[in-house]
Amino acid sequence: MNNKKPILISGVQSTGGLHAGNYLGALQNFVALQNSGKYQCFFFVADYHSLNEDFNPKEKPKQILEVVLSFLAAGINPKESVVFVQSAVPMHAELTVILNNFAPFGELKRMAQFKDKSEAAPQNVNVGLFDYPVLMAADVLLYDATVVPVGEDQLQHLELARTLARKFNARFGKTFIEPKPLLTLTPRLMGLDDPNKKMSKSHPAGCLFLDDSPKVIKEKIMRATTDSGKKIKYDEKNKPGISNLLLIYSALSNKPVKTIEKMYKNKGYAEFKKDLAEVVIRVLMPFQKRKKLLKTNKQKLKTIIAAGNKKAEIVANKKIIEIKKKIGLTII
Ligand code: TRP
Repeated sequence: MNNKKPILISGVQSTGGLHAGNYLGALQNFVALQNSGKYQCFFFVADYHSLNEDFNPKEKPKQILEVVLSFLAAGINPKESVVFVQSAVPMHAELTVILNNFAPFGELKRMAQFKDKSEAAPQNVNVGLFDYPVLMAADVLLYDATVVPVGEDQLQHLELARTLARKFNARFGKTFIEPKPLLTLTPRLMGLDDPNKKMSKSHPAGCLFLDDSPKVIKEKIMRATTDSGKKIKYDEKNKPGISNLLLIYSALSNKPVKTIEKMYKNKGYAEFKKDLAEVVIRVLMPFQKRKKLLKTNKQKLKTIIAAGNKKAEIVANKKIIEIKKKIGLTII
């Protein structure tokens, strides 16, 4: 590891079924950041974070592996970046317990994600869900990360990490670095079946999963809700369906929306959709192929994960010792 470079960290939850939004919002962006050579990158599976919603323990190992496989298949190179699993590094949990004592209850209660998720699943409003941002702060502060690529929905959580770092430093002396968000400028993908709702795995019909076969991709896109009129034009308000498809097309083909509008100036929805399906398939097929190949060598995969966990643990262990010293937990 080159420790002179600024540290960058980000995580992806292991809740199963990554989709196009995760690809554009996280994976593609992580790879670009790694390849920029500007940072020492840490990318991890936020499996502790994934426990606050209803889950099946039988599914968990597969879901965790799924995220690691997706990291690697997208182009994260374990020789350059540290790829690891959060729960394999116990210091994440330790630091959460410590930071809990400095986290303002009221602020956590007002977190948008906590409120949304509590409303969405009122039967399971648990302390893990409430404490989620503190665990996330621990993830980041543990590695002295300066840069954290996140989507807009995570900015509030990262702000808490900054607050906690400042508070802790003010009281116990300089210990943590205040991490800065690196806002991922990716489009908010909407459901193909309902362009007024965010694309989500809980609505599979409108969700482009990274593992969807070409046939399923074609079906979902051809069936995608479009709008009245005939024009392929970006107009979020009056044409939310077409606008969403344009965003997907643009992000996956690296062409500006304007260019795509011109390409389809005198063409119909059907042709546009057919081509979009091809674009999606062209991006996803190599990804799926690499994933499949990685799956065939279980031993190699295990070695990669174990090595990443070890590297992360060495860094995290040094930090937790420093933190415990600062707060007086050093009898022996
Ligand atoms: N909460 C993030 C998300 O859902 C995932 C995450 C967990 C994370 N810990 C993190 C992202 C630390 C960045 C840094 O997208």
